[in-house]
Amino acid sequence: MNKVRVAVLGYGHLGKWHCQKVDAHKDVADFVAIVEKFPAGQEAARAGHPHVKIVDDIKEIINEIDAAFVVTPTSTHFELVSYLLQNNKHVFCEKPLCSNDEEAKKLKEIASSKNVVLQVGHSERFHEAWDKLKEKFQTLTPPYSIRINRSASFKGRATDVDVVQDLAIHDLDLILYLFKQRPTKISAHGYKIRTNNWDHATIHLEMENNCQADIVIGRNSVKEMRDLEVISKHGMTTIDLFTNKIFEATNSTYPDGTFVKEEAYTKRDHLLLEHQSFYHSIQNAKPAIIGLKDGLNAVHLVDSALKSLATGETVSVNLG
Ligand SMILES: NC(=O)c1ccc[n+]([C@@H]2O[C@H](COP(=O)([O-])OP(=O)(O)OC[C@H]3O[C@@H](n4cnc5c(N)ncnc54)[C@H](O)[C@@H]3O)[C@@H](O)[C@H]2O)c1
Repeated sequence: MNKVRVAVLGYGHLGKWHCQKVDAHKDVADFVAIVEKFPAGQEAARAGHPHVKIVDDIKEIINEIDAAFVVTPTSTHFELVSYLLQNNKHVFCEKPLCSNDEEAKKLKEIASSKNVVLQVGHSERFHEAWDKLKEKFQTLTPPYSIRINRSASFKGRATDVDVVQDLAIHDLDLILYLFKQRPTKISAHGYKIRTNNWDHATIHLEMENNCQADIVIGRNSVKEMRDLEVISKHGMTTIDLFTNKIFEATNSTYPDGTFVKEEAYTKRDHLLLEHQSFYHSIQNAKPAIIGLKDGLNAVHLVDSALKSLATGETVSVNLG
């Protein structure tokens, strides 16, 4: 089987790690180029990958590749992904797939006529916890409530976008992935603390059959938190995504006489799994593990939350 000729677009914080993963797949991938727009990034790319071509524009190497990883700022995703698809290239795009519903609609039109793999980097789906819990969540009798916290102290990254596009997108996607009841309405409120974008937000989702979810996200918080909690008449399950632990309290007592069960799960290399899956889809002509529809639905939820943040109104959700 021919190796997949690959380029990585963007040699920033995450682009470096994507390059490392391309290197780790020498059996299936031929690392052709790094496309980095700015000189400082180009220099770093050259130092880290002396045998890879470094260019500043994708057009320079478009005919030399089969696939590309888009790891540039969100505002560039639409233009770069459209260009790659129009040139019949397989695309792995970091989340979010694009910036808003308008771009999503155009991307859908372009992608639907192309026979290529388009994978979206919703990396939080790769926690081992979901292998253990997804079926249980999918069959949970409504109503249930979901609470998600994702907060960290200020790191100065991704300030070109707000916390909804940068962080909440992980949780909005997880809700679609893990639960059967779909969101129908969104209301959100937030604060601009350090930047001109939303630095902290609370998003409330009304879901089918009286289910609901609340997501609290912040990038100027006093402590690091990443957890997801599900509560129903059957009890409570909490997943600490930071320490990789699952806690359960049902309405019965555990055999050892305790009321809370604790289970650790293995921390995985999500990026490595994403790369493995991408090459597998390309080489076996299989759909991407997280594809166009997932990417577009997450963008729609983000767009709806941003509309609610801007207007203070509740916004209806229409998922594809
Ligand atoms: N899945 C995750 O958990 C996760 C984590 C972090 C970042 N991300 C996503 O990855 C993307 C990149 O984030 P980052 O933190 O690495 O950003 P970054 O700003 O550190 O890096 C982006 C790089 O892209 C370069 N660039 C900008 N425009 C370009 C263009 N047109 N062509 C080529 N290079 C260009 C910049 O010079 C910079 O080096 C974002 O979309 C972000 O949402 C995802």
